Amino acid sequence: MRIRIDYTNMLSSAVGEHGIPEEELRAMFPEGRAALEAVRAKRDVIRWRDLPYNQREIVKEIKAVAEDVRQRCESFVVLGIGGSALGPIAVQQALNHPKYNELPREKRGGPKLYVEDNVDPERMAALMDVIDPETTVFNVITKSGSTSETMAQLLTVMRLLIDLYGEERLRERLIATTDCEKGNLVAIAKRYGLTTFFVPEGVGGRFSELCPVGLLPAAVCGIDIEAMLEGAAQMDALCDNDDIEANPALMYALLEVAAMRRGANIGVLMPYADSLKFFADWYAQLWAESLGKKRGGERFGQTPVKSLGVTDQHSQVQLYTDGPFDKTVTFLGVEKYRKVFAIPHAADDYPNVAFLSGHTFNELISAERRATEHAVTVSGHMNKTVILPEVNANTVGQLMMLFELATAYAGELSGIDAYDQPGVEEGKNMTYALLGKRGYEEKLKEMGENAARKLV
Ligand code: PA5
Repeated sequence: MRIRIDYTNMLSSAVGEHGIPEEELRAMFPEGRAALEAVRAKRDVIRWRDLPYNQREIVKEIKAVAEDVRQRCESFVVLGIGGSALGPIAVQQALNHPKYNELPREKRGGPKLYVEDNVDPERMAALMDVIDPETTVFNVITKSGSTSETMAQLLTVMRLLIDLYGEERLRERLIATTDCEKGNLVAIAKRYGLTTFFVPEGVGGRFSELCPVGLLPAAVCGIDIEAMLEGAAQMDALCDNDDIEANPALMYALLEVAAMRRGANIGVLMPYADSLKFFADWYAQLWAESLGKKRGGERFGQTPVKSLGVTDQHSQVQLYTDGPFDKTVTFLGVEKYRKVFAIPHAADDYPNVAFLSGHTFNELISAERRATEHAVTVSGHMNKTVILPEVNANTVGQLMMLFELATAYAGELSGIDAYDQPGVEEGKNMTYALLGKRGYEEKLKEMGENAARKLV
């Protein structure tokens, strides 16, 4: 059961002058081969590629901790942001019941999951309104161990738990996931004897879902993490293929880079499944933060746009058909939904409505995807479809590895470093400066110079 990509409609033979001529794509194959070799050569550096293979022991440990948490708590709260939150959110939405938190405990199996990836004061206060600290376990996740947002949340939770239960019992309700050496969280975790999982070296935030960052929350919520890793391994093997046309991640990267070179600086990801809605958020970070880079005077990147089929057919598709030729659309299609839902007969006297009766919601959503794909194609816009046979732990693992490797190949094809994030770090440093962190005084001055505002 494997994911496939239908890229017919990226080519000029399908969409006309704004598509990629097949000769142009083939002319890029030598670059593709070089990108494949470059990614292979980095195998020791991009350690996220090893995650499907080297975590046997850690998976056992995660499952044991998850089982304990499942037994004794009602809420599991992830504190983290960016790569430390988007994966857990995407996987939970993809693989658990769409209304998971609202189900009664016996139907849910595990605790409710809250992933707190913002420091909006109203949201933090709201969390406190719905959880009971007595039956809550918090998992603070930060690779760097210093991100202000996550640290502010950690301080809040530590104060709460220490006041209620004392320092010596913090470890009962707080789990840390962080770097094994760097940052403050590892030091705090040691001091209080917290159960701690490590983000392995060479696994950057946005590539970290398949390590304890994502595996622990998933296991706590009853997701089969071994099946996810197995799917990722299958895709990793496929995407190491020397035959470029049989290598899905490399083809994905070549198509998007070819499109970018032709001016498609926007990449829409449009899943036709609510379960994959937050996958688009996870992908947006991966694609934007990895590829939005400068090299000398040149700038690279493609702005990812999140869209949901069919909902956004009624909001964005007008732009995708009649708007400028500055984008590609990638549909995520599902062949077999996990439920079949019939459209009943209820108004047979009204033929303009009754034609729907006897069909299923499954047929309707699939027809709408095909119809939108056709509309986008005949309007001359490049598009492709990533087809999932169904959404399950295995295919979600495949999809993650597919996009991670596509990002790695696109980085090599563009000659940029896909693994750093200087723009994000600059924002973090400015925040430290504004809030008075020691050592950031110069940064504060830098900001002062730009402080004159034009207001109206
Ligand atoms: O991909 C990245 O490296 C970033 O987006 C990080 O995930 C994000 O900034 C959070 O960082 P940390 O996990 O160190 O708190």
